Amino acid sequence: LWTSANIIEDSIKAIREQVGDDEVLLGLSGGVDSSVVAALLHKAIGDQLTCVFVDNGLLRENEGDQVMAMFAKHMGIRVIRVDAEDRFLNELAGEADPEKKRKIIGRVFVEVFDEESAKLKNVKWLAQGTIYPDVIESAAAKTGKAHVIKTHHNVGGLPEHMKLQLVEPLRELFKDEVRKLGVELGLPSDMVYRHPFPGPGLGVRILGEVKKEFADLLRKADNIFIEELRKHDLYDKTSQAFAVFLPVKSVGVMGDGRRYDYVVSLRAVETIDFMTARWANLPYDFLDLVSRRIINETAGISRVVYDISGKPPATIEWE
Ligand code: XMP
Repeated sequence: LWTSANIIEDSIKAIREQVGDDEVLLGLSGGVDSSVVAALLHKAIGDQLTCVFVDNGLLRENEGDQVMAMFAKHMGIRVIRVDAEDRFLNELAGEADPEKKRKIIGRVFVEVFDEESAKLKNVKWLAQGTIYPDVIESAAAKTGKAHVIKTHHNVGGLPEHMKLQLVEPLRELFKDEVRKLGVELGLPSDMVYRHPFPGPGLGVRILGEVKKEFADLLRKADNIFIEELRKHDLYDKTSQAFAVFLPVKSVGVMGDGRRYDYVVSLRAVETIDFMTARWANLPYDFLDLVSRRIINETAGISRVVYDISGKPPATIEWE
């Protein structure tokens, strides 16, 4: 019988059998899949689990602190937070090509994660939040069937020399099943039902070269948008919503003067499978409110636009 409680019970048994007394390492991103794996493994093997959370400086407002508060403080899980913002930003400096940016972020992530895990001498297993659609997708990629439009670095796999064995307790589950498990394991539902967030984070939402100044502006604008979506009961009616930073300056008036500040685009879509998507028909009054708040509260942004492009041909992300 498929109930979350049964699945959890079976998984716990299987995990204990698989890893015995060994130590297990998990890359925690704060996304649904790795979060559910963390909660599940903690329940199964307690202190044998160590999580590494890499803050790449491309996360949303307060995201790093929230992940630490949730998993380390609240759940008592051992989480090593690696503050790698400078390293990511230095490696990204001067690069404007979207695919190259993705590759840099993916590579640096593996390097940082690798260095941290090398410090944990007794680890024998690497846990991953692989879910069934990832298994299908990477199988398709290997046979060349997948139409790879973008490099999704977070289903890439392990560097060869790490020699860790894999634990993938969600391998047979679909996303909605993973979410139900998360709720059953006590994760807060606003976390479990969060919109997807790409592995490269704000790196693909800052068009062209990534700079800290841009990331800071984008975080503020994005946070206002998401806050208002939640407040107006629209968050769960959209499948994914976020702000995009456009590194162009447009003119605005402030008092007697003209100023040239950056532009932010709001993107909100409705979709079932993320392969095709419609732009969300958000109320004008709502968009008006969000736009005013962003412009008033974010010095450096003087114009807000709304993306009304469907997928295809426009992808959900701008890069
Ligand atoms: P696109 O932009 O291709 O996005 O329409 C479809 C879904 O995939 C997410 N996405 C990514 N996720 N790494 C990820 O983990 C990536 O490089 C990446 N690119 C896009 C996107 O947020 C949307 O949900």
